[in-house]
Amino acid sequence: HRHLLGIEDLSPADITTILDLADTYVDQSRSTAKHSDALAGLTQVNMFFENSTRTQASFEIAGKRLGADVMNMAMQASSIKKGETLIDTAMTLNAMHPDLLVVRHPNSGAVALLAQKVNCAVLNAGDGRHEHPTQALLDALTIRRRKGRLHRLTIAICGDIAHSRVARSNIMLLGKMENRLRLCGPRTLLPAGIDKFGVEVTENMDEALDGADVVMMLRLQKERMDGAFIPSVREYYHRFGLDAAKMRAAKPDAIVMHPGPMNRGVEIDGELADDINHSVIQEQVEMGVAVRMAAMDLLARNIKA
Ligand code: CP
Repeated sequence: HRHLLGIEDLSPADITTILDLADTYVDQSRSTAKHSDALAGLTQVNMFFENSTRTQASFEIAGKRLGADVMNMAMQASSIKKGETLIDTAMTLNAMHPDLLVVRHPNSGAVALLAQKVNCAVLNAGDGRHEHPTQALLDALTIRRRKGRLHRLTIAICGDIAHSRVARSNIMLLGKMENRLRLCGPRTLLPAGIDKFGVEVTENMDEALDGADVVMMLRLQKERMDGAFIPSVREYYHRFGLDAAKMRAAKPDAIVMHPGPMNRGVEIDGELADDINHSVIQEQVEMGVAVRMAAMDLLARNIKA
């Protein structure tokens, strides 16, 4: 592959290759020898047109651990503010010969469009409600390490599915690896026709969590709602917010996941989010660095070939 634009383009073998390499980068990142040189001599530019804490920081750390020259474009201070288009901005940076371009953009499809215009490898760091491939890969790595496998697991994905690129990429990845997927949320936050994709859909958290190995919670993405009806926060938390009582329906060793940023007391109880017996939320962040190291390493091998 020349780019990493979405899970849609990856085969189960591609996914396994990335996760196997990422496992080695978990070990490297935990050691005192954090640096290696897979990206030495290469220039990585991070362009985030939407806010980010985890994705931007981990792409920067990943690039630096692999020896790349990493530049973070401060998009708030860029000439986008003077009316320069996305494509002109990308072409301007392209003329400076970057090798890896990491892009987050509020519009679905914007990152794929940009990839057609530049000469370097492009990694999608989240485009609108379309895809967030490195998030799904880091979630998969977390699940595989915790559960010892990435197939035949019962996985509940709960909350605002309709506006979530995280849900979309995860549904594709976990479906490709032959897991049983249950989606749960208010009807207005479930995409129409999603049940055709081999997933079970319910508005009842007990049904969704019954015997689940993995419970993945999502944030209400108000920035993408366009006035969609949602219950009050109180009612939402009562029906769909994950707490210890609702977790009793899942397997005793079920893990709780959240891509972050989380809203405590809205989609998840704060104590449960911090409960190390279930919650793997911090581990997901750790896996994010390793997965991004692996993804950039594999693309760099193509660049150098
Ligand atoms: N999970 C995730 O994409 O978080 P950020 O928006 O902070 O990067």
